[in-house]
Amino acid sequence: MGDSVHFSELGLANTREMFAKAMAGGYAIPAYNFNNLEQLQAIITACAETGSPVIVQVSKGARDYADQTMLRYMAMGAVAMARKMGSNIPICLHLDHGDSFELCKSCVDSGFSSVMIDGSHLPYEENVALTRKVVEYAHQFDVTVEGELGVLAGIEDEVSAEHSTYTRPEEVEDFVKKTGVDSLAISIGTSHGAYKFKAGQAVPPLRFDILEEVEKRIPGFPIVLHGASSVVQEYVELINKYGGKMEGAVGIPEEQLRRAARSAVCKINIDSDGRLVVTAKVREYLAQNPGEFDPRKYLGAARKELVKLLKEKNANVLGSAGKA
Ligand code: G3H
Ligand code: 13P
Ligand code: ZN
Repeated sequence: MGDSVHFSELGLANTREMFAKAMAGGYAIPAYNFNNLEQLQAIITACAETGSPVIVQVSKGARDYADQTMLRYMAMGAVAMARKMGSNIPICLHLDHGDSFELCKSCVDSGFSSVMIDGSHLPYEENVALTRKVVEYAHQFDVTVEGELGVLAGIEDEVSAEHSTYTRPEEVEDFVKKTGVDSLAISIGTSHGAYKFKAGQAVPPLRFDILEEVEKRIPGFPIVLHGASSVVQEYVELINKYGGKMEGAVGIPEEQLRRAARSAVCKINIDSDGRLVVTAKVREYLAQNPGEFDPRKYLGAARKELVKLLKEKNANVLGSAGKA
């Protein structure tokens, strides 16, 4: 296999058919972030066992962490693992929050089947121009592209935005038409990370009125919801019980995510929930087994719990179980 590889050679699928089915069926495709072997194994196991289509996604930081060459083979391995399990679920490898044309091009060239170009922090016309450039390149290879309008609040490593700005529905039709994107991420009150709202405050509802206005202007167009971890309190409590310090971590109530999944939202991004499970289970395992030093033991415990959480999300939050 040369330096450049097309996603079809890796057995991957782009998002086009996944989103069309999700739109028609009133559910959302899970987009789970991963950085390492155990997370990817857990995602594939959970989605194969629940019969859910899946988007496995990496941020720029995750790609650097895992190594871009290793990633290509991990993606191939993910497909092979699902097939070995007797599952034919479609698997998409997606770049999360691409920040430049060069990064998106590099991902297209190295076998990603979908990329996000996040120009949401740029002035509108610059966002349009950058997104259009990525679409023109990616579509030559049938790689699907996600754009973003509106800025999410929150700070998380390389993905940061001090203040949120809700998506302006009056811009979406023009943006979609001018750029040719396949899906659009919008800002309706979610944010990245484990601290989505102030501790002790009532959790404000997502701005479904904005989502509805967007749907009216671009009917049937796939919408993406970022910052969609529910920050499961059971895991926050475990972390705090075993030496961690995550007071006030709070996420999006599951009922609001279910409502989003039934709408034009076809892709729901979840990273923090996976991080919390892994951290909680590693902390618990090491606290309860202080003499253990085999990483397979504590990472194995984390992986097992992650499978459980993701199966539960597919079945009861996204509605994607059994839809592959
Ligand atoms: O949306 C951001 C993702 O959670 C990735 O975060 O840049 O820390 O990998 P990261
Ligand atoms: P969370 O931090 O809520 O998991 O959001 C992840 C995300 O939006 C990745 O792009
Ligand atoms: Zn995001």
